[in-house]
Parts: sequence; C-alpha cells; structure tokens
Amino acid sequence: MLFTLMASSTLWHCSQPGKTKITSPDKRVVVLFELSETGEPTYSVTYEGQPVIKPSKMKFELLNQPALAAGFEIKDAQSSSFSETWEMPWGEQRLVENNYNQLAITLVEQSEPKRSLMVYFKAYNDGIGFRYAFPEQAGTDTLFITEERTEFKLAGDHTAYWIPGDWDIYEHLYSQTKVSEIDATQKRNHPDLAQTYIPENAVNTPVTMKTETGLYLSFHEANLTNYSDMTLKVDPGQLSLVSNLVGSERVNYKVKRALPFETPWRTIQISETAGGLIDSRLIVNLNEANKLGDISWFQPMKYVGIWWEMHLGLSTWDYEGSQSMNTFLEGGKSGTGRHGATTENAKRYIDFAAANGIKGLLVEGWNTGWDHWIGFEDREGVFDFVTPYPDYDIEEVVRYGKEKGVELIMHHETSAAPRAYERQLDTAYNLMQSLGIHSVKTGYVGKIIPKGEYHHGQWMVNHYRKVLEHAARKQVAVNAHEPIKATGIRRTYPNAISREGLRGQEWNAWSSDGGNPPEHLSIVAFTRMLAGPIDFTPGVFELTLKPKPQNKINTTLAHQLALYVVIYSPVQMACDLPQNYEGHPALQFIRDVGVNWEQSITLDGEVGDFVTIAREERDTGNWFVGSITDENERDITIKFDFLPEGQVFNAQIYRDGAQAHFEKNPGDYEIESAQIQKGDAKTFHLAAGGGVAISLMRN
Ligand code: NOJ
Ligand code: CA
Repeated sequence: MLFTLMASSTLWHCSQPGKTKITSPDKRVVVLFELSETGEPTYSVTYEGQPVIKPSKMKFELLNQPALAAGFEIKDAQSSSFSETWEMPWGEQRLVENNYNQLAITLVEQSEPKRSLMVYFKAYNDGIGFRYAFPEQAGTDTLFITEERTEFKLAGDHTAYWIPGDWDIYEHLYSQTKVSEIDATQKRNHPDLAQTYIPENAVNTPVTMKTETGLYLSFHEANLTNYSDMTLKVDPGQLSLVSNLVGSERVNYKVKRALPFETPWRTIQISETAGGLIDSRLIVNLNEANKLGDISWFQPMKYVGIWWEMHLGLSTWDYEGSQSMNTFLEGGKSGTGRHGATTENAKRYIDFAAANGIKGLLVEGWNTGWDHWIGFEDREGVFDFVTPYPDYDIEEVVRYGKEKGVELIMHHETSAAPRAYERQLDTAYNLMQSLGIHSVKTGYVGKIIPKGEYHHGQWMVNHYRKVLEHAARKQVAVNAHEPIKATGIRRTYPNAISREGLRGQEWNAWSSDGGNPPEHLSIVAFTRMLAGPIDFTPGVFELTLKPKPQNKINTTLAHQLALYVVIYSPVQMACDLPQNYEGHPALQFIRDVGVNWEQSITLDGEVGDFVTIAREERDTGNWFVGSITDENERDITIKFDFLPEGQVFNAQIYRDGAQAHFEKNPGDYEIESAQIQKGDAKTFHLAAGGGVAISLMRN
C-alpha cells in the first residue's frame, strides 16, 4: 500500500483590529473578514483579485435572546495551515489531498451580556468553507436558532443552475436562469410529488453558477449534523443569497442545540473550468475522518432489481395488486394481481445477475404493508420490515443468491413514518444481520409523520443520522431515497454509500411532464453530483417504454451506458428488465464497467451542455470513459493523455449509431474495437441526447 498520511500544522497570529484575512495555499483565493462600523461580522472572497463574494453579513436570530448580529469586537484571530492525504475506502479516487489554511476568529460583544461567537474559515485552492462555533454561555445551556442569516452577495448577475428550496424533496428539474430571474415559487405544487413545500423564493444547494468572466462557483454545505438543511433565499434585485433554514411547524425555532456546538460548513467551490467543480473534493475534505474503521463488509457493486417493472406498471409492490404506488400513479387503476416480489421472480433476476457478473439484487414490495402505504393518513406502522408476503421466501432467495454469488439488497420503504421506523430498527436490522445482508435501500415517500415535520429539518436530519449509525453497528450500508442531501458525511460514515435526492430515472417511467429532458444529467453532474454519490439507476435499453405509451426516456442507449462513468455511485443499478438486455451486445459494457475508482478526471464539459469523465478502476488499472450531451448533437474529441505510458489498451467504443436521436431513434448504437494508448486522440459524434461509453482494458 502506498498510503501516506502527512499532516502538518503551524499556527500564527494575524490581527489588525477589526480586520483579518486568509489565503488559499496557492494564494489565489482570499477571504477577508472584517467588522463593520457597528461591529457586524462581514466577510468577502476574491479569486485572483476578482471579487467572488462582496462584503456579506453573518447573523443569528435567537429565541428568548437578542440576535447575534452586531456590536462585536475581534478578541482573537489565529491562523494555521494543514496538509494531509487520506484514503477513501471506496470512492471516485483512492487518495485525497486535503490542504488548506485556516483562520479561527473569536468575536465578543462589546457590551453586556458579552456573548461570544467563533467563525472558522478554511481557504482551499478549490474554494472555501466556513462555520460558526457557539461556545458555552453563562446562564444558558441550550440555544434556539430561529434563523441563520449568512449572506452571499454575488459580484454579478451570474447564470445559475438551481432547484427550488423545497423543505420536503429535491426531485425537481434544474432551471437555468440569471440570478435576477430566479423564481422558485413557480415550482410549487408539482402534480407528481407526494410531498413538496416551497415557502420562499429560495434555492436548495448545491447551486452552481457561471460568472460573466467565466468563473464557476457552487454553493453548498458540508457536514450537516444536528442542524437544519440550509436553503438560500434569493434577493433577485440585490443579486444576493441569504441562508434560510428549513423549519418545523411543531416548534417555534429552526435549530435547537446544547452549547457548545458548531454549525455545518457553508461552502463555495471555485473553479476556472466547469469540470474543476466535479474534481473538487472540498465537501468531503470538510468532514471528519472515518469513524467506522474497516468497512470491507461493504463492497462497491452493480445491482439489478425487482423495481423497474413496478415503475412501468408491469407488476405491483403489493400482494393484492389493488392499492399501490401504481394506483397512485395510474389514477386509481386497481386489482392488477401481479405481485413483483415473488421467490420465482427473484431467482430469475439472480440468474441474470450471476450470468453477467452483477453482485446485488434489490427486491421491493417483499414485505407486508404495501396495500396501505401511500396517501393514507394512518400509514404509521403499516410496514414491519420483517414479514414477507406469502409468495416470497426470503431465506430461500438469500440462499439461492449466495449460491450464485449475488447478495440481496434489503428494501425499507418507511412511508415517511420515521418514528415507526425507529421503533423497528432493532428487529429490522437483526433480520438483515441474521441473513448476512449488508446493504439497504431506504425510502421516505410522502409527508412526514408526525405532521409538521419536513424531510429537511433538523428533526429529520437527526433521524437519517440515527439510521446510519444503527446500520453501521449491524454492518449495513445505506442507500437512502427521499433523503437529506449529501454533505460529505460519507467520509465519516462510509456506510452512507449512495442516495437519491434528485429526479432519478424513475421519473421517466411515470412523470406527467415529459420525463427528464436530455440535458438533465449534464446539469446534475455539475450540481447535485458535487454533493456526493447518486443512485440514479441508469441502464435502460428499451427506451421507448412500450408498457407506458405516454412516457419515454429522453436519451440514447449510448448515453445510458455513459452514465455508469459520468454519474458516480459505489452502487450502480442495471435497472432494465432482464429480457430487455437480451440480444444486446452493449450489455458487455455494463458487465465490464468498474464501480470503484483509483482516480477520476473530468476531461471536459459545460454545465447543461455536455460532460466527459474518465475513471481508472481500482486494482485492475482498466479505464472507462463516459461522455453525454444534451438535446444538441455535438462532436467531442478525447485525448487519451490520461493513460499510463507504454501500455496499449483494448478499447471497446459504444457510440450512437448514424440514425441515433433521443426522440426519433434512441436505441441506435454501434460498437467499435480499437487499440488505444497515451498520446492518441479520437473524435466522436454524439447524437442529440446521445453519448459515448468506452472501456479501455489492459491486455
Ligand atoms: C421512491 C423511490 O425513489 C423508488 O426508487 C421506490 O421504488 C419507491 N419510492 C418505492 O419505495
Ligand atoms: Ca424518489
């Protein structure tokens, strides 16, 4: 193992009264902190001398206490620098450099009660992070935050790629507008969302922007622990964003914390190229080191599932086939009687997986309760996570899978009833442990019970963490749907393997708005993906969705293949039905493609247009390249300079056929073999909504 850890830390004081600054190791990023004339904390950020954030205020409104906002003096300011290389147990790359300069500022109110507040800034070459620390306070042991007002005053009317600041769901299409034109309230009441709440003209994070001078910025947060999700309220006139925390109708504050405590990091990633944002590891770097130690019981994998067939309406989650998500989606059709999760069907998928080197099988609709799960007020407790339907023999499925080298992935649809789920964690996870199951897909469809809580508030943030910690104790890795957004927690809890938190592939099967447009993932790669791994579930080969004439996939088949490289996740689904892969030579790419990477390089891209990524598989040294485009066809040139010297690779190129087009002919593809080595360059034509996927195998 080449693994090295170098940590160095030096300390120095830098204080001019009322003003202090920090620069990134390469000196390009500068953060200036100063107090205004009335003692208001203010920070600004420049990149190579250009303003990125104009002087912006920091303020906390509190319950039963005056706001922490002004009248401060800088009592102390200490700088230090830090440098380490840490290893990801699984990830986009094995070794991650974490180099930054830090500034720790202690503020104290000049007059009674002389409360203090600390602000930590970390300046990296790829951006900044800052957080607040609340020290102990005389006479108070708990702080109730009614609002955090951290401002981000932009230096121009940038082009923004945003989803609304929904307190309950991230499954919105991205909009591309000027900051001055953001109107998130237009996104209210989407007919396909079982839960949605957009109280303000706010956006959720990551929100990515391109400035007029061509700089790329992305705003997000890191280490969201025991706090509320930060949305950013937009002031279109002032071109400014200000934090707006997700609240709860059950209490009159947004965050409750025992003193002392620290907030999550507020982050700004800065890059001269769009691809630089994808290659930035700022978000994980701002999280704490692995707390779980060895997690080799989880291995990155590809998986299949009894899943797409339900979304296509070919089978149902529930046993009776009467009241299910299909009923919900198909406007009340009932009595289909085609339960998907049967022992026999599971074996069919296991056989397909085993024949194609796929290691996981997800089975949804295996447990009782699905006949009463959606749209019911009293759905708390309908699922027990241990009782299979009579036509599903879970022990037999596990046994058969083991024999064939395929592990079962557990499914827990909590129906957004987290209290009931917490009560059942022990029994549910004990069953998994006894069956030797090491991963679970959780789900939280619907409005949260208890009423008044939202998916993204502090109460739910704590629920998701509790589940993660419980799962870790049982050696289970979690892939959460309808999750709290990713904020790099996977560094600390590497059993947080993947999550949804975006409009996934499923939307193509049933949405009433035409499905995900071809540009969707060319935006997602530069926005949602900066937060962390995505369970998008790629790999549809039958793109016209015959069972659903109103719906279709707006990409070509080569685009679907490219997603295995472009969209990062340590669990990647081959989501189509086994029969739809039959007779398709392109299945070879899904067999070959890696899921765990030694390194990843974004070769080229533009937000919302196209993106090309190359990744080297761990252990094998094989490389894979994926490129996708939006609704516009284009030529892309790939320079294979990233390959190691002196090695000829056997390449298989899966590309759009001459007639390929996401609308007219999505299934048209060609496969070409080539010998490729460092120094080679090749140009590929990507069809409208198309892509190219390349495997480069060592001889
Ligand atoms: C929504 C999830 O995103 C989807 O993958 C799942 O099949 C359904 N909920 C049912 O749990
Ligand atoms: Ca979902």
